[in-house]
Amino acid sequence: MLKIVILISGQGSNMEAIIKNCQAGKVDGKVELVISNKEDAPGLKAAQDLGIKTAFKKTEDEIIAEADKVRPDLICLAGYMKIVSPKFIRAYRNKIINIHPALLPAFPGLQVQKKALEHGVKFSGCTVHFVDEGCDTGPIIRQAVVPVLEGDTEESLSERILKEEHRIYSEAIQLIAQNKLSIEGCIVHVKE
Ligand code: GRF
Repeated sequence: MLKIVILISGQGSNMEAIIKNCQAGKVDGKVELVISNKEDAPGLKAAQDLGIKTAFKKTEDEIIAEADKVRPDLICLAGYMKIVSPKFIRAYRNKIINIHPALLPAFPGLQVQKKALEHGVKFSGCTVHFVDEGCDTGPIIRQAVVPVLEGDTEESLSERILKEEHRIYSEAIQLIAQNKLSIEGCIVHVKE
């Protein structure tokens, strides 16, 4: 059973989907702890309501110390709006994953749905990837494609993408729980 820590900064809808999928037995994992770097993150209450221990920690050093206590197998960034330092990445090499609301390597960084609309792309989507020292550059585990529709706004596109995020984040975690992934350079191989 994979021991999971989730890091959030905001609403935590991806976090909620992961917790629920673990509790429903769809993911062979247990969310041991949710840590937010924002005291008012609505996700903290949502996690508590699902019976999960939470913590608010301001600095990354405090976050690492708190996570260390649980000895997690996996740290999931779920709307955690901070760049993870090389120190954190070294401590949990290939054990930190992230969800990004675009088809990486297109549109890394912030405000990506807005950028996708401005570029007039016909398809966008989301990506689950291992976290490395770059910004949204780590090896890609799973992606989902979402069409951009005529008249889409940032909100409507975000909403359509978010639905897929909730699905593929748990799928990616389950692949890790089943020990099905191996990383070779920037390629993630999936064993059958
Ligand atoms: C998601 O779109 C995620 O991809 C991005 O931030 C958003 C967080 O949403 N990194 P939530 O907090 O999981 O609802």
